[in-house]
Amino acid sequence: MTQIDVHLTPDYAARTLREDVRAGLTADAKWLPPKWFYDARGSELFEEITRLPEYYPTRAEREILQARSREIAQLTKAHTLVELGSGSSEKTRLLLDGLRDHGTLTTFVPLDVSESALREASDAINADYPTIDVHGVVGDFTAHLDKLPGDSPRLVAFLGGTIGNLLPAERATFYRSIRDVLEPGEWLLLGTDLVKDPATLVAAYDDSQGVTAEFNRNVLRVINRQLGADFDVEAFEHVARWDPDNEWIEMRLRATSPQRVLIPEVHLEIDFAAGEELHTEISAKFRPERVEAELSTANFTPTAWWTDPQARFALSLWQAT
Ligand SMILES: C[S@@+](CC[C@H](N)C(=O)[O-])C[C@H]1O[C@@H](n2cnc3c(N)ncnc32)[C@H](O)[C@@H]1O
Repeated sequence: MTQIDVHLTPDYAARTLREDVRAGLTADAKWLPPKWFYDARGSELFEEITRLPEYYPTRAEREILQARSREIAQLTKAHTLVELGSGSSEKTRLLLDGLRDHGTLTTFVPLDVSESALREASDAINADYPTIDVHGVVGDFTAHLDKLPGDSPRLVAFLGGTIGNLLPAERATFYRSIRDVLEPGEWLLLGTDLVKDPATLVAAYDDSQGVTAEFNRNVLRVINRQLGADFDVEAFEHVARWDPDNEWIEMRLRATSPQRVLIPEVHLEIDFAAGEELHTEISAKFRPERVEAELSTANFTPTAWWTDPQARFALSLWQAT
């Protein structure tokens, strides 16, 4: 059975996009939050990214899930698997297999801002896992966690290194909000990309085929379509840079010439100087001690820390105290 709840209604999405565009594009250092990359085209581009030779995180995390899903099922005995920022839920099938074979899983709850990706993934999983109820949620994981269905014990999976897209203060709020919806004894499974040599990191976000560049520019296409803006999308080039102090990759869009952009739906006229950069995403990379410090501050107890054989990516399991 499949059921989809839509909390990110067109009205809510339109209002929050307008608020973000107003705040971000009128700031001294212009920025946009990464969730707006993900319309249907953005979700497809992200899937293409996961198959690029330079983009190791998906393969590394899949290796860990292949090795550990049975153990995760034995440890958690979860009845409900919630997946935040679920996208295609492709790798998640390994977890679903482990939990189904263990005999405890009844419900899968994928949650994503991208309605097209969520519906496609929910239908595919429903077809391939007939014994599991799929209860999808179109929502924002920074706003709609209180709407999560499912019986206890729940396992909340947050995969793909998406946690790295949040700033440290946002991460603290996010962990606390997950902890608030969990009962003591319930679980969080977190995928974190690890600090490594900058050349490998930058290549993962600046691939030779230009797919990540297209993904980055997609946010301008979303604003053109949703808010009637006239961004000359090709006049912005993709920038991916390693920030060694913050230990994160920054993605930006750099205006290659002076640009004046009209955004009628929010009554804005925004100027970009030649070379000016619009900040679109961070992707923080982690060390074990930082993950541990942040999760214990949010009242989670560590249960397991696993990496792929090359120690590029970590999956860690936490129990709500
Ligand atoms: C980096 S992709 C990871 C996708 C998938 N979990 C994986 O591991 O391949 C981030 C996913 O989170 C979703 N997303 C981004 N911001 C979100 C938000 N604020 N609330 C809900 N979903 C969000 C995107 O639509 C996308 O599917």
